Amino acid sequence: MSSLSPARDDLRIEPGFPVVISPRAGVTLTLEEATPALRPVVDDCLERAGGVRFTGFAVPSIDAFQRFAASFGEPLIGYEFASTPRSQVEGAVYTSTEYPPHRSIPLHNEQAYTREWPMRIWFHCALAARAGGATPIADSRAIYRALDPALVRRFAERELLYVRNFGQGLDLPWQQVFGSADRAKVEGYCAARGIECEWRTGDDGEQLLRTRERCQAVARHPRTGDDVWFNQAHLFHLSALDDDMQDALVDAVGLENVPRNVYYGDGAPLEAEALAQIRAVLEQQRVVFPWLDGDVLMLDNMLSAHARDPFEGPRKVVVAMAQSYTPARAPQRAVMAR
Ligand SMILES: [Fe+2]
Repeated sequence: MSSLSPARDDLRIEPGFPVVISPRAGVTLTLEEATPALRPVVDDCLERAGGVRFTGFAVPSIDAFQRFAASFGEPLIGYEFASTPRSQVEGAVYTSTEYPPHRSIPLHNEQAYTREWPMRIWFHCALAARAGGATPIADSRAIYRALDPALVRRFAERELLYVRNFGQGLDLPWQQVFGSADRAKVEGYCAARGIECEWRTGDDGEQLLRTRERCQAVARHPRTGDDVWFNQAHLFHLSALDDDMQDALVDAVGLENVPRNVYYGDGAPLEAEALAQIRAVLEQQRVVFPWLDGDVLMLDNMLSAHARDPFEGPRKVVVAMAQSYTPARAPQRAVMAR
């Protein structure tokens, strides 16, 4: 067989979550060479399995990864209204969150704290960490089913209100998050997305921005019809921080000014027991595999959540996203039936 025109027979396909695709023994392929053979396999299994891992293919550059992600037919999208610091690597490829290496990032669906999110997300491990640094994943349909139905119903009906306070030296400055220092542009961006903006002046004269955005807690996949747990309440809630940090923040700026927090859609507090149950279910659903240099992981961002484990030493995992999606909302706040 020729590596220039690979066929499905050149691939080894292992079902599971994620599906793992690699070149068959004795076959050498770059990911780009394999793309024509991979496409139908991915089309067939991505929305059933939720995620596909490509391993054993050569990915010679970040640019090659970007071309691979773009080859699925949708332009890659930028990273707006960021939650955590990232830097742009090349084109529309970003580093996976630049968050301190010793900390883990809990499972989450990308941009589930907004009403517009990418349907597809790719990760590429250009350099695996010496220790740790996995990108655990979890099945968002299984999370939905594993949670107490009464909790799911309550969150679905009441929705969530994400409150963010930018700047104050505590969280990302709004100028960085919105990519503009022009207040009118920020207001325009927010108004178009139903995000409420509130400006205030800090003690040192700094212009501070608070945003409030009401969003879904669950969602329904537009093509598969699956119900998924789809929010970042467990990440945005103050209780995501260590107890010492929670106390220090509230002492320093007051509860209403902490960098991020989340409430029910009507502003009522989330119950500690609900958050504990959500975190426990997420923990049970974690699927972990070690990164190998050159690996690519492609997820349906509604069907699969991802996380980041702590790591030691250098690590380079970059990310690309595509297929922006905003669900239609009923005039009355959408209520998802189970
Ligand atoms: Fe993420």
